[in-house]
Amino acid sequence: MTGRIRLGVNIDHVATIRNARGGVHPDPIRAAVLAAEAGADGITAHLREDRRHISDNDIERLGQEIDLPLNLEMAATDEMLEIALRHKPFAACIVPEKREERTTEGGLDAAGGHNHLARFVREMGDASIRVSLFIEPDPVQVSAASQLGAPVIELHVGAYCDAKDESEKEHHYRRIVEAAEKADELGLECHAGHGISFETVGPIAVIPTLMELNIGHFLVGEAIYVSLAETIREMRRRMDEARAIKPSEQSS
Ligand code: PXP
Repeated sequence: MTGRIRLGVNIDHVATIRNARGGVHPDPIRAAVLAAEAGADGITAHLREDRRHISDNDIERLGQEIDLPLNLEMAATDEMLEIALRHKPFAACIVPEKREERTTEGGLDAAGGHNHLARFVREMGDASIRVSLFIEPDPVQVSAASQLGAPVIELHVGAYCDAKDESEKEHHYRRIVEAAEKADELGLECHAGHGISFETVGPIAVIPTLMELNIGHFLVGEAIYVSLAETIREMRRRMDEARAIKPSEQSS
């Protein structure tokens, strides 16, 4: 049996639904309160440059009204750095952001972007914000994140979660396992996120060195059919079940 794995609930898409009508309902902060009651260990929110879902006011309220640690997802821009340093969330996850994309389509180029990213990692680290870099499960990117001095990485597991057939799934799963092993060797705390569902959470949560999963879209979508609280509890249950499997009994 390996240690407990934390669940960060991403509330972005509650705000997406709210913003579809431009009013105040549904309130993503109410979703964060419910998530806390249902067993989430943290709340994750992505303040995008275009404010398509989470707003500045949501970030303000999450700091004031929610006791759980906030993980602020942000692009490496001066505007976001200023906001992070002002709000001082528990954690900040630096993600790549393209205006025209539907969602965060891939990981950061930590290797190629070293000169640009170093200042963000340093300034937020100096402000005692736990910085993570959202990267592809690629050993080159894991090493680059370590060289940047980031204490945490989050692996983009979207390619695995969206894989269409077994061989593709197997290929992407291997990459995640190897990247998590590399992170462990380098002393980095390793998280995973993007596209995780009831179906894919077990094989991911079973990887013993993963410390946290950040999950949003599936939870909010499933909440249409059952309650958000029930959906989060079921995700938590599946994570705990995966963690109860002994390493010797694990298959991919
Ligand atoms: N982690 C990061 C860094 C992300 O950018 C996202 C998507 O906003 C997630 C986790 C959650 O992904 P999903 O909404 O697909 O569960």
